[in-house]
This record gives sequence, C-alpha cells and structure tokens, in this order.
Amino acid sequence: MYIRIADELDLNSIVKIINNSKLGLRYFENDTNKLERVIKTALEKKEIHIRVDDNNKCLGVLQVNHDGAFDKYPYIHFLVVHECERGKGIGTELLRYMEDVLHEKTRKIFLLVGTWNVEAQRLYARLGYRAFCAFDNFYKLGETEVLMVKERMV
Ligand SMILES: CC(C)(COP(=O)(O)OP(=O)(O)OC[C@H]1O[C@@H](n2cnc3c(N)ncnc32)[C@H](O)[C@@H]1OP(=O)(O)O)[C@@H](O)C(=O)NCCC(=O)NCCS
Repeated sequence: MYIRIADELDLNSIVKIINNSKLGLRYFENDTNKLERVIKTALEKKEIHIRVDDNNKCLGVLQVNHDGAFDKYPYIHFLVVHECERGKGIGTELLRYMEDVLHEKTRKIFLLVGTWNVEAQRLYARLGYRAFCAFDNFYKLGETEVLMVKERMV
C-alpha cells in the first residue's frame, strides 16, 4: 500500500473512481469522454497521485496543479476516494502526503470545494484549510464554490 504518481495504465481505474462519485456526476455529468480527456492531460503532466493497495489497485486519486493558483501556488484540483473505501483515512493520507511534498517549496496550498460537499469541507477544515471566500456560479449556474487555503506556519 503506497502512494505513487499515476501513469496512462491507471487511466481507466481513475476515470471509474471519479465517475462513481458525486463529484463526477455533478461536474462531468457522466460525460466519460470529457473526463477521460481531462485525466489524460493531467497524467501527461504527472499531476495525478494515487493511493494503491498491495495488488496495485487504485483506491484514491488526487490531482494537483503545481502553480494552478494565480500562477504561483499549488492548487488541489480534486481528491476522490473509491466509494467502497471511504471513511478509512485514505483521503486524509493522500492530502497529508501531498502537503508534505508541496510545503517543502511553498507556503500556501489552495483548493475549491462546493458548498454542497459538506463531507469534503469538514475534512479540509479538520486538516487546517481555512475558507477564504466563495464564488457563486463558478463551475455551474446556481452553485457556489468555497476557496480554501492551508498555510505553512514557518
Ligand atoms: C471527501 C473524500 C475524498 C474523503 O475521503 P475519505 O478517504 O473518506 O476521507 P477520510 O477517511 O480521511 O475522512 C473522511 C471523514 O468522513 C468520515 N466518514 C466515515 N465514513 C465515511 C464514508 N463512508 N464516506 C465518507 N466519509 C466517511 C470519516 O470518519 C472522516 O471524518 P471527518 O468528517 O471528521 O473528517 C471522499 O468522501 C470522496 O471521495 N468524496 C467524493 C469526491 C469528493 O467530493 N471530493 C472532494 C472534492 S474535490
């Protein structure tokens, strides 16, 4: 069980995990082709980190754009855990792993989370992310995204 950078062989399992989540349904509306295009591009840029089990099965996915926030700070694009594996600490583990990598080089990590996504907001708040401001109609009309930031203290 470990975390590694994903490659093109992981494409199908990543797409499946996201497709089976509320996030996939909400933002990609079961448009698998669109999701595949997004993931392929992220794989080429080596932006996707996955948590696999002992059989190399993908259990959780995190995408980071290294300068995705204002062309300066890292932006966590998404974090999704396989629906059967939630509540076991995998989301926390992936995020902490990424923070350790990123905080060596940067003081701030940004992300956006939908106001509908109460579980994810609670997870981010527990890990020290602070809500900064909110954008209405950002990804979708009628929905609000909260900008959260975690800052290194030193
Ligand atoms: C948000 C998400 C990534 C969290 O992953 P996870 O591996 O379940 O996270 P953890 O186990 O580390 O912590 C989840 C929290 O919910 C609790 N929990 C228990 N059972 C759970 C379940 N079946 N599903 C979700 N959370 C559960 C955990 O105890 C923990 O407690 P907390 O609310 O105090 O933080 C996961 O729920 C998910 O993939 N959601 C769909 C995609 C999404 O919305 N992603 C976030 C926006 S990018």
